[in-house]
Amino acid sequence: MTTTDLPLLVLGRGADSKSERGVDCPGSLPSASDPDLVARARAAKEALGERVFVLGHHYQRDEVIAFADVTGDSFKLARDAAGRPDAEFIVFCGVHFMAESADILTGPEQKVILPDLAAGCSMSDMARIGQVEDAWDALVEAGVADSVVPVTYMNSSADIKAFCGRNGGAVCTSSNAQVALEWAFEQKPDAKVLFMPDQHLGRNTAVLQMGLSLDDCVLWDPHRANGGLTTGQLEAARVILWRGHCSVHGRFTPEVVDELRATVPGIQILVHPECRYEVVTKADLVGSTEFIINTIEAARSGSSWAIGTELNLVQRLANAHPDKNVTFLDKTVCYCSTMNRIDLPHFVWAMESLVAGQVVNQIQVDVDTEKWALVALQRMLDLPAKTAAKD
Ligand code: 13P
Ligand code: SF4
Repeated sequence: MTTTDLPLLVLGRGADSKSERGVDCPGSLPSASDPDLVARARAAKEALGERVFVLGHHYQRDEVIAFADVTGDSFKLARDAAGRPDAEFIVFCGVHFMAESADILTGPEQKVILPDLAAGCSMSDMARIGQVEDAWDALVEAGVADSVVPVTYMNSSADIKAFCGRNGGAVCTSSNAQVALEWAFEQKPDAKVLFMPDQHLGRNTAVLQMGLSLDDCVLWDPHRANGGLTTGQLEAARVILWRGHCSVHGRFTPEVVDELRATVPGIQILVHPECRYEVVTKADLVGSTEFIINTIEAARSGSSWAIGTELNLVQRLANAHPDKNVTFLDKTVCYCSTMNRIDLPHFVWAMESLVAGQVVNQIQVDVDTEKWALVALQRMLDLPAKTAAKD
């Protein structure tokens, strides 16, 4: 199977989507069939010149990536946004939590734009600030909160990042989860980590990268009283994993890994740490999207790879490396539907609005949330660089 054999099915632009009903798009959203879209995007970008800086996450569509000044995973893009204090507008082609982080890391006069406000993240939505505050109260009640250091994955809302900042914790990404956990364990004697919202990244990092046991980890279910855990379980735990997951990476299965190994001689399995533990333990390599790209770039010609991450990126890698056999680690097509909401019509609409002097879809984090989220983000940015990889 090659990615080009896959039936191309574009998901995530259902007719009932908020933005297609025009709620987020005052003025006119160009038609997807407008033959001038590329020329219009180019003209708007030229007209804005240095005033605009366009960031593109690796999971974005090719049609949008073509206009990105820089591409990257969420960690790199957070750094890149902070590195352009001169740009008046940051157009973030990614999802809502990434645009919030960019707003926090950029100056007060800079404006961060998300071309479609419906580009959220289902994983990020699995941890709400009210649920996290309730969990913290329960940890206080159980008598363990004093030893807990909260760490949140970048894929979370700004108010949860701020919660971590206020409570001595930090943000991490898939590039630095291990160093972030090591840092957290050093913050207090007998520290425990409350890891939100991706249970898989937390478990894979704690067990496969750091050598903790599965029994050291407990799962906090925000929909059950006391997270579904006893005081004894909380006392014994080293890592309290929030019950959240990525709906894209959660689809990969160990059965497909076995099937590919049996049918493609020498195939190497390369997956993102948001995949399930049972998949990651069967993989040859695990790492962030940036790590996945670097691995394929460095791979020898003729080598075979099955990649467990978002399909736009896997297709782009397959196209960029025709001398390598790059396939998708799933039998069915699966894009991140919310990432895919940022398409050329929304991009053109946002850029042309800026040219016309109208700032649309600005993402603005309130001052107090920003202050504390920045504390947690800065703790992450100050961590020593280390790429997560199992090899
Ligand atoms: P990274 O960008 O940190 O690799 O995370 C992948 C992802 O799911 C982004 O939403
Ligand atoms: Fe969220 Fe997963 Fe999509 Fe990333 S790939 S934005 S974690 S749903």
